[in-house]
Amino acid sequence: MSYRDSHLEKGADYDLALARDPFDAYMARREREIVVAILARLQRAGVRRTLDFACGTGRITQLLDGVAEACFAVDVSASMVAEARAKCPRTQFFIQDIIDTPLPIAPVQLVTAFRFFGNAEDSLRARVLEAIRRSLAPGGYLLLNDHENPWALQRLLRRLVGERAQADLHHWKLRRLLRHAGFRVRRAFGIGLWIYRAKLERPDVLNSRWADVLELLSRVPFLSRFCPDAVILAQRT
Ligand SMILES: C[S@@+](CC[C@H](N)C(=O)[O-])C[C@H]1O[C@@H](n2cnc3c(N)ncnc32)[C@H](O)[C@@H]1O
Repeated sequence: MSYRDSHLEKGADYDLALARDPFDAYMARREREIVVAILARLQRAGVRRTLDFACGTGRITQLLDGVAEACFAVDVSASMVAEARAKCPRTQFFIQDIIDTPLPIAPVQLVTAFRFFGNAEDSLRARVLEAIRRSLAPGGYLLLNDHENPWALQRLLRRLVGERAQADLHHWKLRRLLRHAGFRVRRAFGIGLWIYRAKLERPDVLNSRWADVLELLSRVPFLSRFCPDAVILAQRT
């Protein structure tokens, strides 16, 4: 099965599943902090029209809905979009695959794509990046994340004891994909470098003041490559 069809029936359960898993909830919280800060900067730089690709239940769309002048979102899953609509009154939604059919809108200045590339297969990644590039105005931005980094400290340590991860999208591979698709990486913001063992993925640890302090390590530029999750700002060349 292609990743494209993975969430067709998951709309009703998705938000709860993310909230229930302490580590997913932690990544979602940190992603939100980073996205809000980046959006404020992009707005000051004149970004007005946005598209949330693979919007799902609107986790990121709702952040754009509050600030963009024109906000669009697209996903192939009607059940996911049904949840998103309720949270995003200003957003125009499309249920379609932009690989097959371009959206009937003028180019946007920012596309977001979260929790998609880490899971998708290579051929889907490349075709989606092509379609996103077509949806973007020249010089427009792509803000995406990779929450399946096989080079995250925890996964590297597991490899030492013989465990093999299925995830394959490490930082350099993602950079290469982006470069081939006509994007240049501008910034990478790591999340969760310090969570190097499963024992740390407990709510009392993840929500502690220590976590806020340790999280600063993830922001050391080169170290984002070894974080389990990273938010990446790329620009159309
Ligand atoms: C894990 S969810 C992420 C949802 C949301 N972006 C988030 O971060 O919470 C992945 C989403 O990608 C969508 N998807 C997969 N392939 C797609 C495609 N070719 N075009 C649009 N959406 C797609 C799925 O339907 C699903 O809703």
